Amino acid sequence: MSTAVNEHELIPHAADDQELLELERKYCSWGDTVHYLDPPKFFERAEGHYLYDRQGIPYLDLQMWYSSASFGYGNQRLNDALKNQIDRLPQLACQYLHAEKVELSAAIGRLNQSKFGLDGRVHFNVGGAQAIEDSLKIVRNSTGKNLVFAFMGGYHGRTLGASAITSSYRYRRRFGHFADRAHFVPFPYCFRCPYGKKREDCGLYCVDQFAKNFDTEYNSFWDAKASESEFAAFYVEAIQATGGYVIPPPEYFPALKRVLDERNILLVDDEIQMGFYRAGKFWAIENFNVEPDIIVFGKALTNGLNPLSGLWAREELISPEVFPPGSTHSTFSSNPLGTAVALEAVQMMEEENYEEITQRKGAYFLTQLQELQRRYPKVIGDTDGIGMALRIEICHEDGYEPDRGLTDRMFAEGMKGDLDARGRKTGLVLDIGGYYKNVFTLAPCFDMTEEEIDVAVELIEQLIRRCAPERT
Ligand SMILES: Cc1ncc(COP(=O)(O)O)c(C=O)c1O
Repeated sequence: MSTAVNEHELIPHAADDQELLELERKYCSWGDTVHYLDPPKFFERAEGHYLYDRQGIPYLDLQMWYSSASFGYGNQRLNDALKNQIDRLPQLACQYLHAEKVELSAAIGRLNQSKFGLDGRVHFNVGGAQAIEDSLKIVRNSTGKNLVFAFMGGYHGRTLGASAITSSYRYRRRFGHFADRAHFVPFPYCFRCPYGKKREDCGLYCVDQFAKNFDTEYNSFWDAKASESEFAAFYVEAIQATGGYVIPPPEYFPALKRVLDERNILLVDDEIQMGFYRAGKFWAIENFNVEPDIIVFGKALTNGLNPLSGLWAREELISPEVFPPGSTHSTFSSNPLGTAVALEAVQMMEEENYEEITQRKGAYFLTQLQELQRRYPKVIGDTDGIGMALRIEICHEDGYEPDRGLTDRMFAEGMKGDLDARGRKTGLVLDIGGYYKNVFTLAPCFDMTEEEIDVAVELIEQLIRRCAPERT
């Protein structure tokens, strides 16, 4: 039964978390991810790599908004860029041009020209999944085909198109038939090799298996007479993000790309989470020496200050002749607040040596995690990292069987805000990923010092000792 509300009382002024939670339970959709934690958590302030709850308790953040705020919450330089733009050109319909949009596109175009020797253009949108949608349009438009490959364990967003190429059935189950569901291929997750092989002597068996699909038309992928595949593109994350920061062996992508080139299949590189130095290079794919046809990006482009996202595509795929005006559009796509912050962020990335910073700090962090694994082999089954994308796989006593229960308990314990950071009451913000939801995917702030990394590892150790004392 609905109760009439006086129009002067529309906005409630909740006294505390409890009252807010009651309102949330009644008025907010639960369809997002808030209720993964029970009760959900409120934060009131963010600064550097700390979030502060409504009681003022700091929480060291090791996920930085899923790698969107890599350059630190409240980064002064980027905040100032946003404030300046608010005072000068806060709004502008995307139908008209402004300098920052053009300069940002040119910067990304030139960067890719220097990295891959390829000409291309940039198209903006809002949110990662929407940029994925645009990339799907470009693939369909340039190839005339709509079937694509994607990886098991891959995540590309939750719009309908992005869900169709995201591996989890869980995200599609309630939403009817997905005619364009990708064909999902096993990812080289060597710690849990899908083929039961060992990396030392597998000879990239997984790539061979993929290549075999094209041996005969009766495998359903290839028409030898027309010399044509039914599949237009392969969507990849160079490092699987939601899949658990899974890092493939260095030879994997070059070998896969050879197969794709032979079959005239495009490589679409989703850099939404790993782009902008998370994996130690501007683009994560640079770690593997292959040239993508399309790159999709979002998140850290604006340090999380604006949902600007976008894609870069090779000239042949996106030139005005093939992708003419009006091919795609969204009201907020190249909004000037987003382009201004992004331009400043790219400028900052050019001035600072983030490749050196992220590789050095990431290597230090990984060494500390490996030491933690050595001390707690009955809790941690695997640690790995590239740049400042790090993983801790929580396992049962045998060091292999995924322990989702313990992972959840450790996550919730960090959220209580009563750990001891060298005498200071602190919480720890972690993110859980992985095929079995037993992986802490760490995306720490690039500004963290070695001493702060030590504190972070001490806090993780406290979680282990509190949540699995019998295994320490
Ligand atoms: C690799 C990757 N692709 C796409 C997306 C979807 O981006 P968004 O959540 O901004 O729609 C994400 C989000 O986590 C992601 O990590």
